[in-house]
Amino acid sequence: MTAVNARVPHVGTYRRELPVSLERLYENAIDWEHLPYLHRSTFSRIEPIDSGDWGFRARVWTHPYEEQRAFVIELRLDRDCRRWITRTLEGSGTGTEIWTHAFSLAQRTTLVVVDFFVPGAGKTAAVRLRDYYYRLYAQLYDEDVAMMTARESELDRIRAGQPSRKVTREVIGEIAEVRARLPLEIEFAGVRFRVIELGGELIAFSARCAHLMGPLGEGRIEGGVVECPWHGYRFDIHSGECVSGAACRLAPAPTVKINSDGKVVLETI
Ligand code: FES
Ligand SMILES: [Fe+2]
Repeated sequence: MTAVNARVPHVGTYRRELPVSLERLYENAIDWEHLPYLHRSTFSRIEPIDSGDWGFRARVWTHPYEEQRAFVIELRLDRDCRRWITRTLEGSGTGTEIWTHAFSLAQRTTLVVVDFFVPGAGKTAAVRLRDYYYRLYAQLYDEDVAMMTARESELDRIRAGQPSRKVTREVIGEIAEVRARLPLEIEFAGVRFRVIELGGELIAFSARCAHLMGPLGEGRIEGGVVECPWHGYRFDIHSGECVSGAACRLAPAPTVKINSDGKVVLETI
């Protein structure tokens, strides 16, 4: 099906079958926070104006950042029509509409059909714009699919049952061998932790973000704070506290000790 918007010229339709459920796609569509983090090569900043289950309206800046070049966009999700429409309300390209229809082909296979409408696009501009949008959407969906599938596997792990917390102590190796493997991702009592060396001290922190289960273990670390690559929430590695203002904190991490025999041991606090 191709969306028909008589007011604005249609410049192209992008189609792609994605290995994710409709639910993950809806979640992704209204998730404004991920734009400047997961899609950092496309967006540099976002400031929400309003947001909710219906979608969001926000001021956004593309990459590279230029203070004067802000857009206001609005995304409205219509679950009954399995559709979301993104409109540019202010800034360059005002009046542009991007209509996405989603068709669930199987529990975890969804076809998206994305139609691009750009005001004033003549024939030549339409071809250029179509190519631009195809390339852009291919990249955005590559990045989104990586996030949505990783999140789905984390949810699967949770659905499969809570891990046992019975393990309270585990030797992970000789100090020299452990140091050579750093940074190290390790499962302890059913939870994944990242072990790193910070200021000469070995320390473990949850490899799963407390926000939407992002890959915190892969986050950038600066001054004892780790930043999640999905939405940029920042956490104090020692306390697990979110230092960027969200009401969430990391799962308690085990302490990392070096025994007198030179073995590295994880222990629950
Ligand atoms: S999953 Fe959202 S900030 Fe980590
Ligand atoms: Fe996205």
